[in-house]
Amino acid sequence: MRVAWLATVTLAVVAFAGSFWTVVAQGTRTGGDGVYTAAQAARGKATFDMQCRACHGATLGGGLGPPLSGAAFLSVWDRSSVGDLVDKIQHTMPQNNPGLLSREQATDIVAHVLNVNGFRAGAAELKADDSVKQIALAAPGAATTPPALPAAGARTLANARPEANLAQLMRGILFPSSNVIFNVQNTDPGEQKVGWQPGTTDFSWVNWGAGIYPGWELVDYAAMAIIESAPLLVMPGRRCENGRPVPVDRADWIDFTNQMAEAGRVAYKASQSRNRDAVIEATSVIADACLNCHDRYRDKPGGTDADPSNKVARGF
Ligand code: HEC
Ligand code: HEC
Repeated sequence: MRVAWLATVTLAVVAFAGSFWTVVAQGTRTGGDGVYTAAQAARGKATFDMQCRACHGATLGGGLGPPLSGAAFLSVWDRSSVGDLVDKIQHTMPQNNPGLLSREQATDIVAHVLNVNGFRAGAAELKADDSVKQIALAAPGAATTPPALPAAGARTLANARPEANLAQLMRGILFPSSNVIFNVQNTDPGEQKVGWQPGTTDFSWVNWGAGIYPGWELVDYAAMAIIESAPLLVMPGRRCENGRPVPVDRADWIDFTNQMAEAGRVAYKASQSRNRDAVIEATSVIADACLNCHDRYRDKPGGTDADPSNKVARGF
């Protein structure tokens, strides 16, 4: 599901000189409108100093955690809404004790973050409701839509040699990662499940270490693994299981790969909201993304029991 707020967004962030930023209306609101108040930012700062400063620094410059100010921060968040940032903070921070903050507290902290980043304060508070999903958190001049695909011919990666064949890559990264996300359909990642631990007898290659990271984090990492594996799928020189080259320079191959990465982003966002239903919804986006490419490039008609997808015929 494409993120709906992009289409309905009414506010955009525009730069004035240097580091001075402000949230400006496109349509109903006028330039210079602040979306939070100074008093709200002060409340947010008080909570930040207690719960966040140890890892993100007094001036939000970063420490154990990443910076929450400046270009390094805004370039990560400039395609998100203010509401996404409230979600991230409320549901996943403080990293060592998530779930501590009320929606109001997380919203106040975002006011503080906006303030430190030079966004102008205004007369009305940032509300602790869904209206914040309509406010873009964009860097000056940044597009609110993802960048266009590179032109054909520019679609290459230079300096690493592929070692795995495509099927190994699929089985090693995409298969387990997708399964972690699909398993959210049957199992609540918020439930504490203890996997195999040293000293117990029920060893399983797959479950080994399963108790080390909590369930929701495993879902985060699986979504990230899907996103990050996209460049590997278009790496020149990789071969399929059958020895034929992966068609990395075909436009539709790259489009399918981008679609898969986008599905991973949908899953990551859902997982970061710590909302099981949202992740369950994202599983169908992932399934479709895998299926679309498999229909075209993997599963050939005329399979046999021994070779059901007819990989012998895979020549693209
Ligand atoms: C124990 C250390 C720790 C504490 C305390 C902590 N964080 Fe974090 N924070 C991290 C780490 C590590 C990351 C990077 C991993 C991630 O994005 O989840 C992070 C990421 C973030 C991000 C995303 C930054 C980005 O570049 O995407 C935000 C926003 C954030 N924290 C806000 C907060 C707020 C607000 C608090 C207090 C309520 C807080 N954090 C408390 C460690 C911490
Ligand atoms: C851009 C195209 C593309 C995308 C996207 C893609 N696959 Fe594949 N997949 C293939 C091709 C082609 C093969 C056959 C590989 C070979 O022949 O070496 C394959 C093979 C596989 C296999 C091995 C099947 C077997 O024979 O054992 C698995 C598992 C797999 N994919 C899982 C996934 C999952 C899960 C996703 C989505 C997260 C995905 N793939 C996304 C093209 C794709």
